[in-house]
This record gives sequence, C-alpha cells and structure tokens, in this order.
Amino acid sequence: MNDKTTAKPPRRRWKRVLKWSVLVILLALLVWFEIAYWTSSNDCSRTAAPNNPMKAIVYCDYGLPNLKLEDVEKPVPNDDQLLVKVRAASVNPYDWHFVEGTPKIMRAMGVGLRKPKDTRLGVDFAGTVEAVGKNVTQFKPGDEVFGGRGGAFAEYVCPRATRAVALKPANVTFEQAASVNIAGITALQGLRDKGKVQAGQKVLINGASGGVGTFAVQIAKSFGADVTGVCSARNADLVRSLGADHVIDYTKEDFAKGDERYDVILDNVPNHSLSAIRRVLNPKGKYVLIGGGGPNDDRWIGPFGRIIHTAVLSPFISQQMGMMMADANQKDLTILADMMQAGKLKAVIDRTYKLSEVPAAVRYLEEGHARGKVVITLE
Ligand SMILES: NC(=O)c1ccc[n+]([C@@H]2O[C@H](COP(=O)([O-])OP(=O)(O)OC[C@H]3O[C@@H](n4cnc5c(N)ncnc54)[C@H](OP(=O)(O)O)[C@@H]3O)[C@@H](O)[C@H]2O)c1
Repeated sequence: MNDKTTAKPPRRRWKRVLKWSVLVILLALLVWFEIAYWTSSNDCSRTAAPNNPMKAIVYCDYGLPNLKLEDVEKPVPNDDQLLVKVRAASVNPYDWHFVEGTPKIMRAMGVGLRKPKDTRLGVDFAGTVEAVGKNVTQFKPGDEVFGGRGGAFAEYVCPRATRAVALKPANVTFEQAASVNIAGITALQGLRDKGKVQAGQKVLINGASGGVGTFAVQIAKSFGADVTGVCSARNADLVRSLGADHVIDYTKEDFAKGDERYDVILDNVPNHSLSAIRRVLNPKGKYVLIGGGGPNDDRWIGPFGRIIHTAVLSPFISQQMGMMMADANQKDLTILADMMQAGKLKAVIDRTYKLSEVPAAVRYLEEGHARGKVVITLE
C-alpha cells in the first residue's frame, strides 16, 4: 500500500484544526453571551420595603418609560463619606446614555447586558451636609456643597469627602451649583489639560450653547483666548453674552468650510469628518473630542469608531487629536467654585423640573437642543 495516497498533507490537516477551533471558540462565545444576557439582573427583584425610606428615581429596565419615583433605603454615610440632603441635581447626556443603554457596546462593558446593573440615576448634585463620617475633617453638618455622586436623582446622596465634592459659593444658588460637575469639569479639563489653551489662541467650540459649551465659552475666554462659538441663530445672543468673540450659526454656515484656522477645537457635536476638522486646524492645532453623539447616532458603537480613528491618526500628523474623558475631582470643582464666586463663571439654566419629572427632563435633554443646563429641584 502506498502511504502517500492515504495520509492527508499537513497543511490541509492544520486548516481543518484551525477551522474547527474557530468554530468552537465562536460557539463558546455565543453560549457565554446567551447565559450572561439572560442572567444579567439587578436589585429590583428584592422587594423588601425600606426601613428608612427616601424618594429616588429608579429604573429596573432600559428605556425612559421605566424611570420611576420610588421609596428606597436612605443611605448611611461610612467613615469617609458625607450625608448630603440634595437640594438640586442636574441632567447630563451621560444620564440618557444610561437610561437607554446606548451605545449598546457599553452594556457589554459592565453596564448590564439585558438590564441596567445600577438602577439609580443622576450624578450632579448640590445640597446641605446633614452628617459626616468620623474620618471627615473638611466638611461639617450645615455646609452647603456641590459635586457628583451616582444616584443623585434622590433626596440624599453620600459622596466621599475627598472625591468630587466641594463647598458651594455663598453667592451661587443650589440650582446653579448643581449644574457644574460634569459639564463644568469637562469644559475646564478639555480646554486646560487637553487643549492647553493659551492667551491669544483661536479656540472654536462646536456646540457652544449646550451644558458643556456654555461653560467652555466662559472658561476659554477667562484663559484669554479668541473664542468662536458654533450654535444656532436662536442661541447666538446667549453665546455672545457669555464672552464669545465670534458666533457661527451652524444652520447657515459650516465652520469646517470657512477660511479661519483654529489652534484648539473643542468638539461637543462630532458632526464633521476628521479630514474636514483638520482642514481648519492649525498645523500644530489640537482637536479635543468631547461629544458622544445623539440618540439617533450609531446606537451600537456610538463614538468609539471616532475615538479609535483619532487615536490611530494622531501619532502620524502634526496636529493633536483625541478624546477627553472628564475626571470629576475636588480640586477642579474648587477652581470652578472660585470662578463662580468671583463672578467669572455662571451656569446657564434652561429649564427646571421636579424630582417626579425626571423622565420629562431626560426626554427634553435627549432631544439635543437644551440651552445650557436642565436642572431638577427638590424641596
Ligand atoms: N467626554 C466627556 O467626558 C463628556 C462629558 C460631558 C459631556 N460629554 C458629551 O458631550 C456632548 C455635549 O454635552 P452637553 O452636556 O453640552 O450636551 P447638551 O447640553 O445636550 O447639548 C445641547 C446643545 O447642542 C447644540 N447642538 C445641537 N446640534 C448642534 C450642531 N449641529 N452644531 C452645533 N451645536 C449643536 C444645541 O444647540 P441648538 O439648540 O442651537 O441646536 C444645544 O444647545 C454630549 O455628547 C455628551 O455626551 C462628554
């Protein structure tokens, strides 16, 4: 018998092994995903009535209609925390991303595949300290504070004393202070840390009339920049009143097709291609990507494609391009508080809603045309 006719050539054998290995891995991933999806749960199934209740917004499933005002257990501060009675909270696009569970890729990144893991909503708050843990030295009961803590759409929150919480300036209302945390910090860090804005530089803020934009115009101006704000005509006066030297009405003119060149572009509305942005950016200019896109943009991967694109492109070009993720912290909150106290920074408040009206507030913000901040007031 001739061995050559019966034995398979090694290359064909390896191809078969590879093919079956890939199939087995894909099948295992599919089974893992199915199990993870159907076992994905949250604490909503626990139905015991709270012993010491407070009102809070809770959502057991993704989607706006699932937001409910319910009684939950009032939090107890640990040794390093404050108990804050919330007087006002503000809504951010961050909140509706979590309500909708979009872009869907974030559900697989720990947010909850089938249901939200964390059933509480809201981050930005301002309120009065009611109690402090035994290790807390920098705050005392009665202090008025503001900052960020998950679950802020509630009567009480317990931030860590060393994290994102700072004293509220006396000349600022709770509503104004509650507007600051995410939007103000994003604007500050985007311009100062990523954009490295210097006096005299030309800075363009795309989406100048929203939560981040209204802070960014004022902060860029306080750095001595020559500021161009991009917004629609109805917001032009507002953006000018915040200090913008030039306003471009995006319904009539496309800044990316203009003759002006910018040192820094802070992009809250990533609605231009990177090549269009590069055209109006100086050779050593910086593009700071802030915005994550609207609810009707890519619901699967959202801004992740653009984030990867900027990261891959940036090392090969003279311009710097990249995404900025805000990092809420006490130091920057204090800087913003000082600016507010000195009258150099103000929060623009579009609408206020009651705690029971959070679903309407989130729906309004999700439409993408808020003028400054949307605030929740509590008694
Ligand atoms: N990277 C981070 O750490 C971070 C932090 C905070 C926020 N974000 C993201 O940044 C983005 C902005 O946040 P935000 O709080 O400012 O949102 P927002 O308050 O909802 O922004 C609404 C504003 O966007 C303006 N706008 C809509 N379409 C526009 C266009 N084509 N050109 C120019 N302006 C336009 C609207 O003005 P008109 O009514 O005139 O259209 C409105 O004033 C969001 O995508 C959010 O998810 C990221």
